[in-house]
Amino acid sequence: MMTEKRKSMHGQWSSRWAFILAATGSAVGLGNIWRFPYITGENGGGAFLCIYVLCVLLVGIPIMMAEVMLGRRGRQTPINTMRTLAREEGRSEWWQCIGWIGIAAGFLVLTFYSVVAGWTLAYVGRAASGFFNNTTAEDTRVIFTQLISNPKSLLIWHTIFMALTMMVVSHGVTAGLERTVRFLMPTLFIILIVLVGYAMTTEKFVDGLVYLFTPDFTKISATGVFIALGQAFFSLSLGMGAIMIYGAYLPQKTSIASTSCIIAFIDTFIAILAGIAIFPIVFTYALEPSEGSGLIFKTLPIAFGQMPFGQLIGTLFFLLLVFAALTSAISLLEPTVTWLIESHGMSRIMATLSSGMFAWLIGIGCLLSLNVWAGSTLFGLTFFDIIEGFTTNVLLPLGGLLIAIFASWLMSHKSTTEELALGNSTLFSTWKITLQYIAPIFVVLIFLNAIGLLKFGS
Ligand code: PHE
Repeated sequence: MMTEKRKSMHGQWSSRWAFILAATGSAVGLGNIWRFPYITGENGGGAFLCIYVLCVLLVGIPIMMAEVMLGRRGRQTPINTMRTLAREEGRSEWWQCIGWIGIAAGFLVLTFYSVVAGWTLAYVGRAASGFFNNTTAEDTRVIFTQLISNPKSLLIWHTIFMALTMMVVSHGVTAGLERTVRFLMPTLFIILIVLVGYAMTTEKFVDGLVYLFTPDFTKISATGVFIALGQAFFSLSLGMGAIMIYGAYLPQKTSIASTSCIIAFIDTFIAILAGIAIFPIVFTYALEPSEGSGLIFKTLPIAFGQMPFGQLIGTLFFLLLVFAALTSAISLLEPTVTWLIESHGMSRIMATLSSGMFAWLIGIGCLLSLNVWAGSTLFGLTFFDIIEGFTTNVLLPLGGLLIAIFASWLMSHKSTTEELALGNSTLFSTWKITLQYIAPIFVVLIFLNAIGLLKFGS
């Protein structure tokens, strides 16, 4: 068999668990802990969560399976994987555009991702020095505003984070990542549980839960649905080849279906835990759920300032969040780096340096748009907002849509059954039908609805 002979030139995971850890490392990051709570707060709470979970189940999991499958079959950087598979299946080589969209998306996500990871880094120091002891909501607002209005310190943190990312990627990701994530995930999980424990002691714990878990569909707009879909792609690292490149290092025997479900479950669970920890604090301290991208930085320090050992727990929390962001950032850069190596003969170090520096440069635009350039907007959106919105809500779902179409319509039945190894079971047909019809129709309807070409809901 052709696919059994093909090998990735960048290495292979030592086991199924190594892949699960690496892919979870990619999925769990700022998307779960920083982005999910703030966009849930901006889009009405419970109803948003409901639609988000629906997007994960109907679109996210099937597309994740497809991405891993394509990656493992092609065993190269997404562009070359798609070209090889398109050829093998007798399809147009244009399908390699999936890889191109992915490289562009991953690269652009990294530019603002590194800036936000920089905020997290800055908060490690603040938490460690006891800055948050007995802070009020007013203080945390001021602390956050001071940080983002200071371009110099933002630049320093952004630079440190990008340098860390480049350091790891230049060593090759199959080594080292497994160990980091193995220790990281359980500890992050425990700290989130401690935070949920704190939230339970706040006055408005129940209000927070009600906000998060009682769907009020009048509160969600067409744009909200669109944002929920984008968030599903962002949080699961889908639509840009990150999971595809990790799939390229996956041993041939591993079951793709169960592995994808485990990753999606952990990812969603962590996002929900973050929500449970944050919203009770929002209501207890009279903050707004719609505070925007500073939400976790304005809420969690209050908790750290009040709980026993808060200084230690807070420091550990932000530090772990930096690590979680790092394991995601690595997967954002990896497709570009492998492409430069495979197609341009660069060394890994040169490939990492050139792509990382370029992303760093565009990242400076993002961080300046928070302060110096805050006044320069397009339709009321800053440069940061445009890059964040365009990549997450447009590029990732578009990449995902193409992946769904290729995997379910254009690959032969023989290739997909062989790779997924589910036989002709109901599970296989459910996957195929979801990918052929449900996911694409869902994505297209949500797109059309958001741009106002179609009207359903409020
Ligand atoms: N999933 C990551 C997070 O939630 C971000 C990411 C998006 C990583 C796309 C890779 C690809 O933080």
